[in-house]
Amino acid sequence: MDVLRWENRQLFLLDQTLLPHRTEYLTCTHYRDVAKAISQLQVRGAPAIGVAAAYGYALAAFNYQEDREGALEDYLKKAARELLDTRPTAVNLRWALEQMDRVYRTVKDKAPGEVREHLLEAAKGIHMGELKLEERIAEFGSSLIPKGARILTYCNTGALATAGWGTALGIVRTAHLQGKEVEVYVSETRPVLQGARLTAWELQQAEIPYTLITDNMAGYLFRQNKVDLVLLGADRIAANGDFANKIGTYNLAVLASFHNCPFYVAAPSSTIDLDIGTGEEIPIEMRDPQEVRMIGGQLVTIEGCPVLNPSFDVTPHQLVSAIVTEKGIIKPPYDLVKIFAEEGADR
Ligand code: MRU
Repeated sequence: MDVLRWENRQLFLLDQTLLPHRTEYLTCTHYRDVAKAISQLQVRGAPAIGVAAAYGYALAAFNYQEDREGALEDYLKKAARELLDTRPTAVNLRWALEQMDRVYRTVKDKAPGEVREHLLEAAKGIHMGELKLEERIAEFGSSLIPKGARILTYCNTGALATAGWGTALGIVRTAHLQGKEVEVYVSETRPVLQGARLTAWELQQAEIPYTLITDNMAGYLFRQNKVDLVLLGADRIAANGDFANKIGTYNLAVLASFHNCPFYVAAPSSTIDLDIGTGEEIPIEMRDPQEVRMIGGQLVTIEGCPVLNPSFDVTPHQLVSAIVTEKGIIKPPYDLVKIFAEEGADR
């Protein structure tokens, strides 16, 4: 099932807010539809929002009407700004929009129809390029997975969150296909339950054995020696290996460290932000308090009660056993500038 699909000048997005109960596609005919879908988590996951934003940029070129909107360049700039402002933490969004802007600069003097086609090709290129990288991540990452491993994962890092295969969950999928007989503990991931709704759904479809737990059960599992490794994704990785991921990731990293359990992060290079030295500089998205007050549309606390809702936390690199990227498995000390400064050269 496609998570994102371009057809007849429209972007179709599988609406992730309806899963696992309903599989319905949203039709985006305007870049603002894409921006809204990203901010409402109808499409989510760092690589997937990068890909969606790239299509959103291309869509803007199709939406542009010369007689009403001034210069195309200004219109695309405005669209890119609106797409970028939807979610501040995952750097893939900025990365994809910068790629699109770069392509625009090389074709801007061509006829409008040609510019549109080039931008669409660029968005498709980002989509397919990311997918290829995910397959490499999965190949590298599966070498870290022993036969029969019991893997604890968090949030959703599968096909839904990416260009189509997955990062951490892509590794799980590949390890499963290689006959490694893995088992997965899926932490539900409050407040909006990406683990319970999305990861469980993907594993069920792939027939990979899994067990759902609530987030506060992780410590119990570690004490029972039931976790062989933790494997999850990232929304932004700083040059020193500190990384932001779904709120609650840091709790698992501390638990894993205390229990001497390997803690692996998987992400494509579009998630690495070499402009920032440490995780301190990663902007953390604060979301609607209602996400915490409600579960599945049901109020579970006092209407209007005070709430904190940071969508991500930062885990220091000291707690990370390895980072799996398309370039291979990176072990400490993390000097990502050295490894990725030439980023893009082999894409
Ligand atoms: O708020 P979300 O659902 O977009 O958060 C997603 C995550 O935190 C994922 O773990 C991360 O983006 C990696 S997805 C391959």
